[in-house]
Amino acid sequence: MRAVVRDRYGPVDVLRVAAVEQPEPGPGEAVVRVAAASLNTADLDHLLGRPRVARVATGLVRPTNRRVGLDVAGTVERVGPDVTSLRAGDRVWADLFDSGHGALADRVCVPASALSPLPEHISFEHAATAPHSGSLALQGLRAAGPVRPGERVLVNGAGGCVGPFAVQIAKARGAEVTAVDHGDKLAFLRELGADEVIDHRHEDITRSGRRFDVVLDIADTRSVVAVRRCLAPGGRYVLIARRMGSFAEKALLGPVVGALTGTRIGTFAWHPNRRADLAELAGLLASGAVRPRIDRRYSLDDAVEALRRLASGEASGKVLVVP
Ligand SMILES: NC(=O)c1ccc[n+]([C@@H]2O[C@H](COP(=O)([O-])OP(=O)(O)OC[C@H]3O[C@@H](n4cnc5c(N)ncnc54)[C@H](OP(=O)(O)O)[C@@H]3O)[C@@H](O)[C@H]2O)c1
Repeated sequence: MRAVVRDRYGPVDVLRVAAVEQPEPGPGEAVVRVAAASLNTADLDHLLGRPRVARVATGLVRPTNRRVGLDVAGTVERVGPDVTSLRAGDRVWADLFDSGHGALADRVCVPASALSPLPEHISFEHAATAPHSGSLALQGLRAAGPVRPGERVLVNGAGGCVGPFAVQIAKARGAEVTAVDHGDKLAFLRELGADEVIDHRHEDITRSGRRFDVVLDIADTRSVVAVRRCLAPGGRYVLIARRMGSFAEKALLGPVVGALTGTRIGTFAWHPNRRADLAELAGLLASGAVRPRIDRRYSLDDAVEALRRLASGEASGKVLVVP
């Protein structure tokens, strides 16, 4: 079978599509035939070995894990001897962040506990868009406290992988959504349902005089003091991005500035691939409240091109790899 592999850290050029051995499920494992996989910014971080401190776990000089790809949807093909929760033929989906990656392949062998059942009425392609970035959007909005109807929500960096989920989920909760990204993405953000779109190249939202009840910050471009300026009294700011310095600033200084100004500024503890989150996402997909946006589909043989497309920053919606 085919899989996307890498032997060293680096940009997309380190990848190739190779013939690898068919996986054999061990105890507690299942082999999934991949129907669709989608790409995330975290795949690019995984390739580059970023942040560098993560290499303590992933291999100091060379990556110990050669495989790539987080979001997967497909069918269980075989299960290990003691697996009772799954059977061959079951439809499943997962974010493989904590389970060895490897979605960019014909098949992937993972712990059976990482796989959630995928309802019949959700297509594999739609399912594959959501586990990683959809869960981040859900957990970020949850950390901001329940978003109430009529609240003003700002999504900063709305045009990437996480933002389109955040915009649509906030709209589904009745919020008035402002989405910030660069000009080429604004039409796409309007299509997603954003009430107002702002080009960060022409306007600094933190100096616009506008105030928001909730700020979900994916782009992470401003300091705690600056983000405080666009929070309404009692407003809540949650940082999604994970740049080390800025994360430390928002995690340590945020609560202090928040306490002094009657707002809440902070980060949140991310839990990848939570079954309850996937069930909530399934409900949002099934109801049409979240409509997955697919930028382009690539075959597995062209998966390296797919990652180039993601790295270019030009994609509007998720980039899919369909073996
Ligand atoms: N919270 C956690 O525990 C956790 C876990 C995993 C991942 N993450 C983080 O989640 C983030 C991934 O989100 P993502 O995949 O949606 O990122 P992304 O695809 O890179 O999207 C970020 C968007 O922000 C835009 N942008 C760039 N500069 C901006 C500015 N000054 N103002 C407004 N928008 C701007 C980008 O446009 P361009 O394409 O033009 O740059 C892009 O559309 C990463 O930072 C990752 O570290 C967090």
